[in-house]
Amino acid sequence: MIQIQNLQVRAGEKDILKWVTLDFELGKNYCLLGKNGSGKSTLSSVLMGHPKYEVTGGMATITSPQPSPSKGEGEATNLLEMWPDERSKSGVFLSFQNVPEIVWVKLSEYLRTIYNIAMKKDKTDFKDISPFIFKRFIKKHLEELDIDGKFLDRDLNVWFSGGEKRKIEILQMKLIEPKYIILDEIDSGLDLDAFKTVATMLKSMSNEHNSIIIITHYFTILDYIDVDKVFVIKEGEIVKEGWKELAKEISEKGFEGI
Ligand SMILES: Nc1ncnc2c1ncn2[C@@H]1O[C@H](COP(=O)(O)OP(=O)(O)OP(=O)(O)O)[C@@H](O)[C@H]1O
Ligand SMILES: [Mg+2]
Repeated sequence: MIQIQNLQVRAGEKDILKWVTLDFELGKNYCLLGKNGSGKSTLSSVLMGHPKYEVTGGMATITSPQPSPSKGEGEATNLLEMWPDERSKSGVFLSFQNVPEIVWVKLSEYLRTIYNIAMKKDKTDFKDISPFIFKRFIKKHLEELDIDGKFLDRDLNVWFSGGEKRKIEILQMKLIEPKYIILDEIDSGLDLDAFKTVATMLKSMSNEHNSIIIITHYFTILDYIDVDKVFVIKEGEIVKEGWKELAKEISEKGFEGI
């Protein structure tokens, strides 16, 4: 479980998150709604450890569901003190609203690296998969997502279209099977077919061992992924919690009165 209590966050001169308290439990899906500029991306970036943000108060912890000899079962670890790669290894994954482009990092090598690291988490004796075998292994995933194999030889996200970047995000999730999957507007910029592919893949990935956290301004994605809880954030504070009916109400009436 990820538990966030009274989280306060500043960037530059601005106090962006003022009072955020919420939990994400494995086996449940969530939706975070709020107007533009309310703090949704800030919250997701802070959970992932983006250095741009300064945590000025409150806490966020992550509890491992696995019994671990050194920590004991279910001991909470301070998420905010972990490096981003440790957070990732603990199962936190963020699909960025603005997906970064990284030159000189070939997509195939990036995917192979994260796959090898993810596999070693569970199997310490796992031997790195070779580039040749990996290219064969990844083929079925590329086909499922309708991604051209030629992309593997390109630099990570460089000159990829918005929709192509989104699909690569899904591909990463398929490879590393994160526990806490934060999707910051993954449904924006997709054509109808790409949206269906992405939403269907996400639906198939949802299970009792993970938690999907959807940030969206469109609500169609909620027809694919069942959410257990909806949070509404306004000016850096969680102002309302509810069930999926709350998302429906907001999709019809907007944020007026919330
Ligand atoms: N480094 C920064 N310095 C100053 N203000 C910032 C900084 N980063 C973000 N902000 C401000 O913090 C507020 C929250 O931004 P955030 O990106 O979290 O909003 P959001 O809820 O994700 O909005 P949207 O729905 O438009 O994506 C905005 O007013 C934004 O301009
Ligand atoms: Mg945002």
